[in-house]
Amino acid sequence: MEQRSQWGSRIGFLLAAIGSAVGLGNIWRFPATAFDNGGGAFFVPYLFALLTAGIPLLIMEYTIGHKYRSSSPRSFSKINKKMEWVGWWQVLISFVISTYYPIIIAWSIMYAYFSIGTKWGDDPTNFFVADFLEVADAGVFGSIVPSVLFPVILVWIFVFFFLGRGVKKGIEFANRIFIPALLVVFIIIVVRALTLPGAIDGLDAFFKPDWSRIADGSVWIAAYGQIFFSLSIAFAIMITYSSYLPKKSDITNNAFITGFANSSFELLAGIGVFAVLGFMAYQTSQPVSEVVADGVGLAFMVFPEIISQMPASSFFGFLFFGSLVLAGLSSMISISETYIAAVQEKFSVSRGKALMLGGGLAALVSLLYATQGGLNLLDTVDYFINNYGVALAGLVEVVAIAWFARALKDLQHHADSISDIKLGVWWRFCLGFLTPIVLGYMMVKNFLNDIN
Ligand code: PHE
Ligand code: NA
Repeated sequence: MEQRSQWGSRIGFLLAAIGSAVGLGNIWRFPATAFDNGGGAFFVPYLFALLTAGIPLLIMEYTIGHKYRSSSPRSFSKINKKMEWVGWWQVLISFVISTYYPIIIAWSIMYAYFSIGTKWGDDPTNFFVADFLEVADAGVFGSIVPSVLFPVILVWIFVFFFLGRGVKKGIEFANRIFIPALLVVFIIIVVRALTLPGAIDGLDAFFKPDWSRIADGSVWIAAYGQIFFSLSIAFAIMITYSSYLPKKSDITNNAFITGFANSSFELLAGIGVFAVLGFMAYQTSQPVSEVVADGVGLAFMVFPEIISQMPASSFFGFLFFGSLVLAGLSSMISISETYIAAVQEKFSVSRGKALMLGGGLAALVSLLYATQGGLNLLDTVDYFINNYGVALAGLVEVVAIAWFARALKDLQHHADSISDIKLGVWWRFCLGFLTPIVLGYMMVKNFLNDIN
């Protein structure tokens, strides 16, 4: 039996976990989500979700990975033979995400290049949709778009390179470079953004609390959705990563560090994005609320427009899209590692073979999004992942562990035996009762919204 790969150091593991957590969710999902759900008041449900669901689940996943030293499917089957499918199901969700995440990274690579000389011209929206993506009424897929295809291939080369080199020399090495670089880039962007005219109005809009929203269930759902997606919970990632931890590891502490680091990146991104939106509002004499956007629209339509109006626009644009690439790649590596580890164990094949099989299949599927119809497809798949995938995956996981296998006490014992902070009944209460109830409510509510 080959010895299980291990992280080179505690900081290596933490950087990889933070690298997985910090992604597009922090940069383009959090700011608008907070703004739309009560601004400053959103921090109450957000912190509640972080402390009662996000970090407790992270502790649980770290404990599972550390205790069973296996990928997600095998870990679940070691807890209870009947639960292997829970792990496979998580792996499947990660697989699906890993087919469209590289597309967004590919766009960002091209936009980092377009930044130099602001090649998107006077009408960035039209440039993105018509010139760059060639979205046309060409049936469902249309033809392959070469300007997307080539950077996508580049992304997969990166992914294959780092994953092929293994846990320490590949994943850890990449994150040791990407995450510190990302932090530096973030800080430069935020400082620059804060010194733009109108920045203060942006921050004012972002932080101004609307306390009346606190009683609204949908605000709480938004907070939970953000926390789960943002912390990469219930996607088999954190179980896989923690399975490479050495025996002596303070897992509870690591979970707190990961959770707070991710939220810090989120707050920083919120400040940066809204300072820039404040500048946009100032330039166009509109209220900030008129220019708020998120996701693809924010990054590839609104931001190029603002960037063009900034001093040193090429530099600033390059940094912004560069940060998307760094944040995206480190998350992408973590999603793909889930199925590589799972396939490797299940079929007793080498890492290289599992990578060829899993990564190869994901790469092939990803080409569907590199077509003229790709944007549409990406929107649809992303919608389902965000509205059902995240909550359902979390719900299935806690119910399986807490109620079906009744494994919480056992896991608590394991975590406590190696961690400084000891888990109390609060931990079991959060996972066994509070979180499943909220996630269940979330599923039903999203479903009712959709059929109405
Ligand atoms: N946590 C990442 C983010 O905030 C997104 C992600 C989700 C990454 C699921 C991997 C898997 O952007
Ligand atoms: Na995140």
